Amino acid sequence: MCGIVGYVGSQNAVPVLTAGLRRLEYRGYDSAGVAVLDHGVLRVLRCQGKLRNLEKLVAAESLCGTPGIGHTRWATHGRPSDTNAHPHVWQGVAVVHNGIIENHLALKAELIRAGHIFSSETDSEIFAHLIADELHRTDDLAAAVREALRCVQGTYALAVLREGDESRIVVAKNASPLVLGRAEGESFAASDIPALLEHTRDVIFLEDGDVAVLQRDGISITGADGSPVERPTRRVDWTPIMAEKGGHKHFMHKEIFEQPRAVADTIRSRASMEEGDLYLEGLDSEVLRNVSRVVIVACGTSYHAGLYGKCFIESFARLPVEVDLASEFRYRDPVVDSSVLAVAISQSGETLDTLAALREAKKRGCSTAAVCNVVGAAIPREAGATLYTHAGPEIGVASTKCFTTQVTAMAMLAVKLGRVRGTLSAEEARRHLAELSSAPKLMEKVLRQEQACADLARRYRHLSGCLFLGRGPQHPIALEGALKLKEISYVHAEGYAAGEMKHGPIALIDPELPVVVIAPRGPGYEKMLGNIEEVRARGGQVIAICSESDSRVPGLADHVLRVPDAPPLVSPLLTVLPLQLFAYHVADMRGTDVDQPRNLAKSVTVE
Ligand code: F6R
Repeated sequence: MCGIVGYVGSQNAVPVLTAGLRRLEYRGYDSAGVAVLDHGVLRVLRCQGKLRNLEKLVAAESLCGTPGIGHTRWATHGRPSDTNAHPHVWQGVAVVHNGIIENHLALKAELIRAGHIFSSETDSEIFAHLIADELHRTDDLAAAVREALRCVQGTYALAVLREGDESRIVVAKNASPLVLGRAEGESFAASDIPALLEHTRDVIFLEDGDVAVLQRDGISITGADGSPVERPTRRVDWTPIMAEKGGHKHFMHKEIFEQPRAVADTIRSRASMEEGDLYLEGLDSEVLRNVSRVVIVACGTSYHAGLYGKCFIESFARLPVEVDLASEFRYRDPVVDSSVLAVAISQSGETLDTLAALREAKKRGCSTAAVCNVVGAAIPREAGATLYTHAGPEIGVASTKCFTTQVTAMAMLAVKLGRVRGTLSAEEARRHLAELSSAPKLMEKVLRQEQACADLARRYRHLSGCLFLGRGPQHPIALEGALKLKEISYVHAEGYAAGEMKHGPIALIDPELPVVVIAPRGPGYEKMLGNIEEVRARGGQVIAICSESDSRVPGLADHVLRVPDAPPLVSPLLTVLPLQLFAYHVADMRGTDVDQPRNLAKSVTVE
């Protein structure tokens, strides 16, 4: 995890770095630090806790200088502390690092024998020592970095600053994200695009093994062997304001309300309504026609989007679909081959388990595709084709708009597979795409009922547990509703396939336990009425999500949140919204850190 930033230019680097780190705080927030050159002299400030602690320290010390590097940390090796905070320094070399160095203990022992003194428990500090050592042999910082990297095994995005050399910083990448930016007389590096948006929208994604020298007048990149390489500059269409809270109390709240726009953009980018077709470049129709099975790999919320995808790919394309947790798939001995289409779903495109599962599928000959929200991230770079979601930057750690755009992408993939395989007629495909296109308006309607969700949250804010039930495509929504509640309000919650209730969770039901029953009209509706009766018979409290036109559920449930009537393909995009809002308001009323819940980080680039 962790976020890194780097700046070379004529401005004071300190505010540029801290503003960049603010945008990356979602990647980790247990300590932060910056290093700058003040007239060539290295000055480093770092401290435990959130970025505001560093900002206070920087102001108190009147830190000023350029160029500079910065870091916001999510601890992996070494507890959160001042000394474990980055940058790490040895003999005038300052380094910030995101990733994990697997052989750091052996390297550290060797360096200690050679007289090096380590001041932290981190694996990252090893870089400062290795690079400083190389600088005894060469004066070329980039060459020293390349040499040092030969010794390490593991993942890294790192930025290096050397005392006395105001002309440059050097950055390098392997399996951790790193993006560069250029503006007139300035160069930038960051773990993610939002940190660059205030300065530039022209970005360069480094490839694994790249080492780049950032100077005021340009960026030069070499591959691991030192030979120059060209990486394309891409223009991102995110504006800085898109990465701001825009008047909302939390990013999560803002992102919940961005969903109609995000879903509409995701559909617009791919669907031709007139032709009832979808553009999925990179996904050869011939390949799609001939696959015998689809295997979806993902983690967390993205896994829930995969479960939704299974329902409709099976139904529209008549293909068997397995949905696997990426962390399980990668360590099993999965039965997949070249007849399988493996689809990796990842908001960040950097989740290590999902990336590893994708690689495993590729190694075994599968055709591969990704569903991802970040252009040029590791997973889309490695997948055969990518269906990008257009949610824009998601800053709140709890995924909301990325989930609904992933669901949208999976719906489109199901339609596409149905069409190329001839199991959906053009007319049916057109109908489904038209249904999907109606979703943003319906979502807006649901979001207008925020007050009802907030009132319910007030009523239940002291809850100590909660059960979520759904069937078919509402089952992943039950899982997602439970995940949202647990991750931001720290309330234990379970999501269950409603038919499973009688096989265990029914024992939990008592007058204290709220049971959220997702029961819109559609397949499984009658069965959900049965579930509500079962909960009531045992004294449980029922919060039902039901269709506007429904008159039966309101007569049975203790509380009702209504969503517009919609076909099964669209309904999950609606029913999830009150659950997100309920979780959000419960968490806000309980006073938790909604955007940065404890122990979590936005993008899990470690195992
Ligand atoms: C939950 C959440 C996580 C992510 C998971 C995978 O709100 O956001 O469960 O879904 O860590 O992340 P990505 O989608 O970036 O691979």
